[in-house]
Amino acid sequence: MRRRVRLVLLCFVCGFCSLLYAFSQLSDSLEERESGIKTPRSTAALRSGRRARKGAGSVGLGERRQSSRYSISIKPTEKMHLAVVACGERLEETVTMLKSAIIFSIKCLHFHIFAEDQLHKSFKDILDYWPFPEKFKYTLYPITFPSENALEWKKLFKPCASQRLFLPLILKDVDSLLYVDTDILFLRPVDDIWAFLRKFNSTQIAAMAPEHEEPRIGWYNRFARHPYYGKTGINSGVMLMNMTRMRRKYFKNDMTTAQLRWGELLMPLLKKYKLNITWGDQDLLNIMFFYNPDSLFIFPCQWNYRPDHCIYGSNCQEAEEEGISILHGNRGVYHDDKQPVFRAIYEVLQNHSFGDDLVHSLLHPLEQKLQKTAHTYCGRIHQVFIKRLTKSIKNHYGTRSKGI
Ligand SMILES: *[C@@H]1O[C@H](CO)[C@@H](O)[C@H](O)[C@H]1NC(C)=O
Ligand SMILES: *[C@@H]1O[C@H](CO)[C@@H](O)[C@H](O)[C@H]1NC(C)=O
Ligand SMILES: *[C@@H]1O[C@H](CO)[C@@H](O)[C@H](O)[C@H]1NC(C)=O
Ligand SMILES: *[C@@H]1O[C@H](CO)[C@@H](O)[C@H](O)[C@H]1NC(C)=O
Repeated sequence: MRRRVRLVLLCFVCGFCSLLYAFSQLSDSLEERESGIKTPRSTAALRSGRRARKGAGSVGLGERRQSSRYSISIKPTEKMHLAVVACGERLEETVTMLKSAIIFSIKCLHFHIFAEDQLHKSFKDILDYWPFPEKFKYTLYPITFPSENALEWKKLFKPCASQRLFLPLILKDVDSLLYVDTDILFLRPVDDIWAFLRKFNSTQIAAMAPEHEEPRIGWYNRFARHPYYGKTGINSGVMLMNMTRMRRKYFKNDMTTAQLRWGELLMPLLKKYKLNITWGDQDLLNIMFFYNPDSLFIFPCQWNYRPDHCIYGSNCQEAEEEGISILHGNRGVYHDDKQPVFRAIYEVLQNHSFGDDLVHSLLHPLEQKLQKTAHTYCGRIHQVFIKRLTKSIKNHYGTRSKGI
């Protein structure tokens, strides 16, 4: 009798152990499939959910690792650095962009937010109360320009826009950075665009998308009074940079026979071209890469999808095939009624709270809204706008038991 009880007990223990093992294998393989690098989430951190964060986003990654069962097998996780420049009325837009980055991304994010002083408190008041502090940290910076010509840089094109040119010089300790305009929305993990960094050949230092796909409606090739990259120029709204390389490189140019470093190049370039440029810093980037074409990696239009890609007929073929990865609502389309598809996507993300179900509270309402836009140029191809988003949401729930 005693022996039988022992036997039953033994079986029970064995069964329990193998169940545990199966679970750990399952969660391991799920994590690996998504990221390649194991990034375990501490359930304690997940459960704690919403909690105020101290200071400018100081997050103890180390703590998280120690509390994990897999701590031995973890490689130091690469962080993804994302920079944005927010001035004027751009708080809400910037916050929505940051939210879209967090929702789908897998690796940790570090946000570098350059903002006018009066916006700093608002950013803190929002970001400090976002849940999942282990997924991101942030640093706020004032807007700064080199002292000699600060005013000239500041008023170039839109206020503050040219701040982005100085990022490699200001963020000296950051190796690589994704710069985005405030009117960007991520419809898939930041990890996926970050992966392009590894595809750079030995001479490439930055990556951008073309300004236009269709030369007949291109701006640079019809109107520019300065050199520009490639057939139709480049758009700087989504700019992936290996800043280590940018800081090291000597750039060919048409001002001196000597090649100049990034920091030495900007001022002479502005002096020479300021009367001929229309789109400010983006034009300067076009001039730079005209003289250094081997330094640029071009990614397809689905990574910087703008109204220009659909209002004159659909001309971004990659987006038609694979869906839109990054949406860029320039021309103010998130805030007026000219392109309701862009506005609808902005509004569902703006409305989204972390923890809401992405299928029922985001995707389904969006699908319904988009059907009502079929009479507009961009609305005619509205399935292109949610193709990739739908996939991202599926992947999100496929690999996580708890939604963000
Ligand atoms: C500026 O544009 C004018 C008129 O097109 C042209 O003659 C001039 O060479 C341009 N300046 C530079 C620096 O390219
Ligand atoms: C950026 O370039 C430097 C120098 O070539 C290299 O060591 C580094 O790994 C690159 N960064 C990324 C993220 O590829
Ligand atoms: C890197 O790619 C660019 C763009 O395709 C090209 O112009 C350049 O020659 C390439 N560099 C090397 C070293 O192959
Ligand atoms: C956003 O939320 C408000 C209030 O809950 C709702 O009235 C509005 O229709 C929502 N907008 C979208 C685009 O989902």
